[in-house]
Amino acid sequence: MGESSQSLSKDLSVLKGENFLSCSDLNLEQIKSLFELSFQFKNNLRRIDLGNRVLGLVFSKASTRTRVSFQVAMARLGAQTIDLSSQATQLGRGEPIKDTARVLSRYCDALAIRTFGNEELLEYSKWSSIPIINALTDLEHPCQALADFFTIQEEFGSLQGVTLSYIGDGNNVANSLILLGSLLSVNIRLACPKGFEPNHSFVEKARSLSQLKSSIEIFNDPYEAVSESNVIYTDVWASMGQEQEHLKRVDAFKGFTLDTNLLEKADSKAIVLHCLPAHREEEITDHVIESKYSRVFDQAENRLHTQQALLTALLGGL
Ligand code: CP
Ligand code: NVA
Repeated sequence: MGESSQSLSKDLSVLKGENFLSCSDLNLEQIKSLFELSFQFKNNLRRIDLGNRVLGLVFSKASTRTRVSFQVAMARLGAQTIDLSSQATQLGRGEPIKDTARVLSRYCDALAIRTFGNEELLEYSKWSSIPIINALTDLEHPCQALADFFTIQEEFGSLQGVTLSYIGDGNNVANSLILLGSLLSVNIRLACPKGFEPNHSFVEKARSLSQLKSSIEIFNDPYEAVSESNVIYTDVWASMGQEQEHLKRVDAFKGFTLDTNLLEKADSKAIVLHCLPAHREEEITDHVIESKYSRVFDQAENRLHTQQALLTALLGGL
């Protein structure tokens, strides 16, 4: 085994049996090793067989990318998934998480949970004896952030000196970007309308994670935030569960659409990211998402490779 593959195994073997609830559950070496393993999977340089392992997908919200990328990742690892939506289980009839989690731990090898309140995710982690993966809550979307920074590293060869500007709502996606970006020492700028900035505690936590003291700046003017940035990122203005606020938010976010005028203020080699699904002509124009700057489909593809690496680590496949 080569030296780099030995350190990859060493960094990732400690994740065996662990949860992945937040970006802050990982350290820099583990993220770098996950990216290296993701690269190997993407380029068919490594095959890993997880045998008969089973990942349960407990999703209370809609999902295309997260659901399918987990399903395909497990299939490529010779393993399986089962769909455990609340309508298909007794969860829909009110069976408590503490019972569900202990029962599912007897059948499955890991659970990916997509839900509303982060406290539900924590309740699963409290009562389960198998790894719990955050597949999105109202607070964080850590699997998305892994794919996002892997995509940025692919584009620029390194994350050193990269500045990412996030335009829009200080939501779950923004929180995970701040945390993982800080761990990776990427400079982060956020432009949010007043009152829609990310929770202060996330910003403080992220600042404490940055070894090289990369910056996190918050603006209320998107033009100020994108100036000379390398990555421009946006997400929907109303997340799942906020549908009733949609009209109010469209009003509050006026001027925050990622359009050609805004993109022109970024670095000339800047790329555009969006976790998808997008509301075209709201947070991003059709023109920008279809432009040569957009990497949104590479980003979506990378969900598969980074989650394959994550599952390998959590399920002890190395
Ligand atoms: N980006 C993302 O998580 O997409 P889905 O909601 O389709 O899973
Ligand atoms: N912020 C969005 C992300 C969807 C992938 C939501 O929570 O709906």
